[in-house]
Amino acid sequence: MVKEEISRANALFCAECQQPFSIYEVNTYSSCHQAPLLTQYDLTDLTIEAINQNERSMWRYAEVLPVLEQANIVSLGEGWTPLLKLKRLAEKFQVENLYFKDESANPTGSFKARGLSMAVSKAKELGIENCIIPTAGNAGGALAAYCAHAGMKATVVMPTHTPMPFKKECEYFGANLVLVDGLISDCARKVASLNLNGKYFDMSTMKEPYRLEGKKTMGYEIAEQLNWQLPDVILYPTGGGTGLIGMWKAFNEMIKLGWIPPSNFPRFIAVQTENCKPVVDSFFSAEFASPCLPSVANGLSVPFPFAHTLIKFILQDTSGTAIAVSEQAIVENVKEIASLEGMLVAPEGAALVEALKILLVTEEIDRDEKILLLNTGSGYKYLENLP
Ligand SMILES: Cc1ncc(COP(=O)(O)O)c(C=O)c1O
Ligand SMILES: [Zn+2]
Repeated sequence: MVKEEISRANALFCAECQQPFSIYEVNTYSSCHQAPLLTQYDLTDLTIEAINQNERSMWRYAEVLPVLEQANIVSLGEGWTPLLKLKRLAEKFQVENLYFKDESANPTGSFKARGLSMAVSKAKELGIENCIIPTAGNAGGALAAYCAHAGMKATVVMPTHTPMPFKKECEYFGANLVLVDGLISDCARKVASLNLNGKYFDMSTMKEPYRLEGKKTMGYEIAEQLNWQLPDVILYPTGGGTGLIGMWKAFNEMIKLGWIPPSNFPRFIAVQTENCKPVVDSFFSAEFASPCLPSVANGLSVPFPFAHTLIKFILQDTSGTAIAVSEQAIVENVKEIASLEGMLVAPEGAALVEALKILLVTEEIDRDEKILLLNTGSGYKYLENLP
């Protein structure tokens, strides 16, 4: 029986030189430039009607996602999260249109579910059974959950200082949990040493092509939920940068599809913590200047983002910027958002509100602009970080 392909994916290509790679083989990153691999689709004659309105998850966009056969989709109902208009915060900041895309509604409580649902589905499609991941917390929990759902093996390598719920969920999902004294970069070194014989498939951020395609669906959803009128500016809490690159890719695809006009491409603003700000450093001074420390926003403590060249390009290309906020401000904003809006957001999401306050004062964001923040995760897993 010939199986029907549900996807328009036709190749991977090197983000640096566009050299093509096969979507039918196991790939990681480009051998030519050690750069991320991006999925390419045949985008001709695909109308908005291709969106499956009955599918209330990110899989409503299956034709522009890389899983070729329906049967390989490993889903716990990720995506199609609420886009909330925050009236009380907006009033306080005297801005007109403030939106929060609430990714805490995802399985395992963060947007990492999108990327790992996609990556585990593709791993299943390619016959991979044993996955490993270095993580700041959320991605590890998501990998463990989707591997459990697919009947696959997961090894999660996480900093020892990560809050307890991140560790517990991995154990409940049946993953092999390895703790490392250090940051995610030390966990990545541990992954390399555990994987010398190549028995695991490494799901590291941007070194695996398809997590990006899952995160990309945030861009499709934002456009659809705003009736195809994109925000003027998007603030994104940046660690490895997958969500930022994913949304930028989504908007570019939708322009090619003719679903949105090319004219109102949002400015992307990468928000980091003063404890770890390599993207801010490289944006303003071309090098990683400051050392990295742990953060109350665990996902922001990423010393060497693999895709930093592409992140910097996107910030420049969209006339965006990068900004770091203090640890204390992150905690204060978690509390302020909770008391004003009834949302217990991840510290990574709260960092965006501090960045917004600063950028309104410096007039890098205007009060009449349509502003979108991504609450990338639930604050409930981080309670022990909050004094
Ligand atoms: C809640 C949360 N927000 C943001 C990030 C950063 O995401 P990315 O690595 O895609 O930049 C992470 C990563 O761990 C996270 O868990
Ligand atoms: Zn290349």
